[in-house]
Amino acid sequence: MSRLVVVSGGGSGIGRAIAEHFAAVGDDVLILGRRAATLAEAADAVNAELDTKRVTYLAADLSDVREVEGVAEHVSGLGGTVDVLVNNAGGFYGLDQPDTLAGYAAQWRANFEGNVLPTVLLTEALLPRLTRPGGRIVTLSSIAALRGPGTYGGAKAALHPWNAEQATALGPEGITANIIAPGYIEATEFFGDRMTPAGHAARVSQTLVGKAGRAAEIAAMTGYLASPEAGFVTGQILQINGGALLGRG
Ligand SMILES: NC(=O)c1ccc[n+]([C@@H]2O[C@H](COP(=O)([O-])OP(=O)(O)OC[C@H]3O[C@@H](n4cnc5c(N)ncnc54)[C@H](OP(=O)(O)O)[C@@H]3O)[C@@H](O)[C@H]2O)c1
Repeated sequence: MSRLVVVSGGGSGIGRAIAEHFAAVGDDVLILGRRAATLAEAADAVNAELDTKRVTYLAADLSDVREVEGVAEHVSGLGGTVDVLVNNAGGFYGLDQPDTLAGYAAQWRANFEGNVLPTVLLTEALLPRLTRPGGRIVTLSSIAALRGPGTYGGAKAALHPWNAEQATALGPEGITANIIAPGYIEATEFFGDRMTPAGHAARVSQTLVGKAGRAAEIAAMTGYLASPEAGFVTGQILQINGGALLGRG
């Protein structure tokens, strides 16, 4: 039976690869993001490639309470329950702020609003609709949450205790909640025009495997965490970073 998978930020980069992964195994996938044209292009491309109509989209700013309520209404209208929620929307914000105390405050606010609110609001709004037992929540954090830089990493790190709370509260209902903390993943919109050949090489040289990560590698881990076989994995932070930061015992 096909599942319903909701992927925030599914119009580009890692989220798009995740949407493609689930559609390829026969799930229905709803992708969310602010840019309707980007979402439409992604849904059309994945549907055409897989010769399916499984990927649909809805444009919404997930840091806005009213718009998240709109998403919940839309999902309600689809009927059934949400089997997998992938909180992938986020980014590195506030670099355009002036080098002043006010600019610094704005940078912290932008990273909090852009990384924390989309995850916690969407999860809270869809919680009543999650499949019980068997529902899955997978949230994208970052290597930055474990080692900086501060504003972006601090915002992502806030998701870690939040995830622990979700796993604790929802475990008895048969729902798992896990974090994926990626290292450098190339070919997404994350770095915009900030990435340079030297910046790319520096990030690759931090890894033990001598390469950048690919969005499909994050999608594969998301697929595993969403599978029935992963029912004993919850409350975890899974690093996927080519060994750029080692796991600690
Ligand atoms: N690439 C990396 O090296 C890397 C490393 C560690 C962690 N990550 C994390 O992985 C996730 C995916 O990043 P990516 O690399 O795939 O970058 P990306 O291509 O920029 O994807 C981010 C997606 O999130 C959506 N989004 C952002 N804010 C949103 C909001 N308020 N409401 C709705 N949608 C929103 C964007 O769409 P719209 O602009 O249309 O809203 C976009 O599709 C992010 O959380 C990022 O922080 C990335």
